[in-house]
Amino acid sequence: MTFISKIDEKNIDKEEIKKQAEILKQGNTVIFPTETVYGLGANALDENAVKKIYEAKGRPSDNPLIVHIYNKNQVNELAKDISQKAHLVMDKFWPGPITIILSKKDIVPSRTSGGLDTVAIRMPSNVIARELLKETNLPIAAPSANISGRPSPTRGNHVYEEMNNRVDGIILGGDCTFGLESTVLDLTNDLPIILRPGSVTKENLESVIGKVEIDPALENKDDNIKAKAPGMKYKHYSPNADVFIVCGDEKKVAKRINNLVSENNIKELRTVTLCLLKNKSLYEGDTITLGENLEEVAANLFNALIMADKEKYDIVYTESFPKIGVGRAIMNRLLKSAGYKIIEA
Ligand code: TXA
Ligand code: MG
Repeated sequence: MTFISKIDEKNIDKEEIKKQAEILKQGNTVIFPTETVYGLGANALDENAVKKIYEAKGRPSDNPLIVHIYNKNQVNELAKDISQKAHLVMDKFWPGPITIILSKKDIVPSRTSGGLDTVAIRMPSNVIARELLKETNLPIAAPSANISGRPSPTRGNHVYEEMNNRVDGIILGGDCTFGLESTVLDLTNDLPIILRPGSVTKENLESVIGKVEIDPALENKDDNIKAKAPGMKYKHYSPNADVFIVCGDEKKVAKRINNLVSENNIKELRTVTLCLLKNKSLYEGDTITLGENLEEVAANLFNALIMADKEKYDIVYTESFPKIGVGRAIMNRLLKSAGYKIIEA
């Protein structure tokens, strides 16, 4: 049985937070909202509790977890060799959608760090997440609250439908503001490296700490180039439908997709196109609109993929987006959900 709490972030019910915090303190699992995606949490320092996360998600055990904290002092308990650049990132972007990788202290169990000698830490800004972390007074390990490989949940109904009865508690707390997982930044070397792009962009980071590199494996589907974040190597963000990214000039893209849709109709394959609101009228078949700008696309993307599954579409075509700002994170997730299948219009 899963204990469900519905919490309004504008009027937080502290009693419900206390009940969910108690579940975590007892070594059990609770799903909670963050500003990025919903997280599936357990006490990061308790191996048995962390094991329950991997079981609930069906997650490979070499994929390390992000540890969520309430205040900066907790970083010193979990990590060592904290550089000046790390302090600058924490001061400028926390609480918020960025995770930093540091050398871990022994207190962090190897199950939490996926056997690595580093630990990923993040201070979320979502007020429900913050209240929960404060109330438990524990560092909470929390991956995205999806079954491993599926799109990450960004709406209460996603977690309820996918995870009810797989975890001990769920806090339903509305829609996630950013909608894509946090930026993951490796700060264990002098040159910081982005292991997973997110809403805090390379440009945002460079304005604070100077040169930042992007893990070359991120932009390459070649299996021989190994991603530095273990999670990035797995098939990910995949709906049941087959996803294709269609690139090129807007009008050509629409024409190409419309042709493909008619071919699919003949084969009795149900098809939907993900597009910007302004392009909706260019398409003849079913569409799901992603919004008017890159921020909205980020916030709506996983919901769109999950909706496509619910509506039992066989094929999803999506427009592509410029790799600027959060566009880089959007394209990273889209390429993975499409298994790198790209059509040039
Ligand atoms: O926005 C987020 O980060 C969400 C919310 C819930 O906070 N969490 C999340 O966790 O996305 P997860 O487990 O789905 O993704 C964590 C990513 C994985 O790609 C993992 O391999 C990488 O971070 N990671 C974690 N610890 C790492 C480490 N020590 N070294 C390298 N990569 C690490
Ligand atoms: Mg995930």
